Amino acid sequence: MTQNAETQLIPFDRMKEQVERAIAAFLEQTRSPEAVPAPRIAFEKGSTIIAFPLPFLNEALLASFIGLIKTHLANVRIHAFGDGYYAFQSLGGNLFRTENILDNVKIEFSGLTTSFKAEISKKGGLTQEEVNLAVELYKEAYSAVKDDPIARLRAMGASVYTDNGELTWAYIAGYDEVKKKIRESIILPLTNPEMYNSIARLTRKTFETNRPKAILFEGSPGVGKTTVARILAGEVSVPLVYVPIESIMSKWYGQSSQNLAGIFDAAEDLGGSILFLDEIDALAGSRDQNMFEATRRVLSVLLRKLDGIDSVVSTVTIGATNRKGDLDHALISRFDQSIYFPLPNERERAAILANYAAHLSDEERAGLAGIIDGLSGRTIKDICEMAERRWARRLIVKGMEPSPPPPEHYRQSARTWIEDNRVRD
Ligand SMILES: Nc1ncnc2c1ncn2[C@@H]1O[C@H](COP(=O)(O)OP(=O)(O)O)[C@@H](O)[C@H]1O
Ligand SMILES: [Mg+2]
Repeated sequence: MTQNAETQLIPFDRMKEQVERAIAAFLEQTRSPEAVPAPRIAFEKGSTIIAFPLPFLNEALLASFIGLIKTHLANVRIHAFGDGYYAFQSLGGNLFRTENILDNVKIEFSGLTTSFKAEISKKGGLTQEEVNLAVELYKEAYSAVKDDPIARLRAMGASVYTDNGELTWAYIAGYDEVKKKIRESIILPLTNPEMYNSIARLTRKTFETNRPKAILFEGSPGVGKTTVARILAGEVSVPLVYVPIESIMSKWYGQSSQNLAGIFDAAEDLGGSILFLDEIDALAGSRDQNMFEATRRVLSVLLRKLDGIDSVVSTVTIGATNRKGDLDHALISRFDQSIYFPLPNERERAAILANYAAHLSDEERAGLAGIIDGLSGRTIKDICEMAERRWARRLIVKGMEPSPPPPEHYRQSARTWIEDNRVRD
């Protein structure tokens, strides 16, 4: 029996080559090929599988997937739809031959909030139309990533905040010295670039920018480094590209250095942004041999990108660390300036309490501030929340109307926290 083009199966090796060639051509037109992972093409347990991660999965993307499936395959039924799992099964050419339906090509999309995936699978080989469909789905998934720097950044593990929500400087109590330094060294240059450039033109033999390109935020966990970066980006109305170094190192293991390079490029394409590299302590080295290799590669990309940033005058990089002493000296030297976030002093602790326990009197807050010496703003907030939750439980049990917790509850929560977190020796 001779088969027509519609049912003829393509040998696995030829199919694989075809897909890879189509994808290579697609990547040629891509600004950040490192944001676009290669598909997995395999023959397993008698089935052909083409699988690839998706950068995201929203209704719009799903709708265009469905459109593609309908153009390439006749008679498709929805096998599952919802709760992060969408599956489509081809019914084949003959609707009345329903036996072995599950041997027909199947297309699945899955993922709830992370780890989105697409998989095209079929018992035996694929037809030309099915191969085309796989390639089209892949291109559709990554075309947004290809053109839109924000989508590319997200695909590489960065978050992008384009507004700071409710956050203003008033949210951070105290820290007047830190706020002043940030105003002088970051906000003024970003909002008045002409003044800085004019001065540099008057003073330099060869023009180069005198504006800061990279700044280090240094201080214990919970002292407001991340929050301040968000407030500051909102103030100068540029997007904040948030890059948790620790998590891109572990999540994108093996690919993290390419991703970091891609993040710098995509941030540049935003035409002005604050690139916030959080927890760069992750680059302080590790005993694990493999991790060390990955760390080394990420570090060298970072050094190179921080050097090359001259041309990228619109990107300001901020690195945050709570272990500056453990960082590579070459890395520290790339930062123009370091801003130290101390733990709050007694007056500042009282001011932080005024944000989270506004109903207490000044004396009550001052008394409490005395007990919580050495704690960060985050811990103070946690203690206040603990007091509120305990109080809420008590009101519920007693069937009482809502009221704010009395001061004694805060003192008790503070003591519990200190007791629970005391370093035992
Ligand atoms: N000075 C402060 N005033 C008010 N809240 C603070 C202050 N410092 C820290 N916090 C609280 O602690 C939380 C954690 O701070 P964060 O910016 O994540 O610290 P870091 O990045 O230094 O670890 C903030 O969201 C805020 O709620
Ligand atoms: Mg932080």
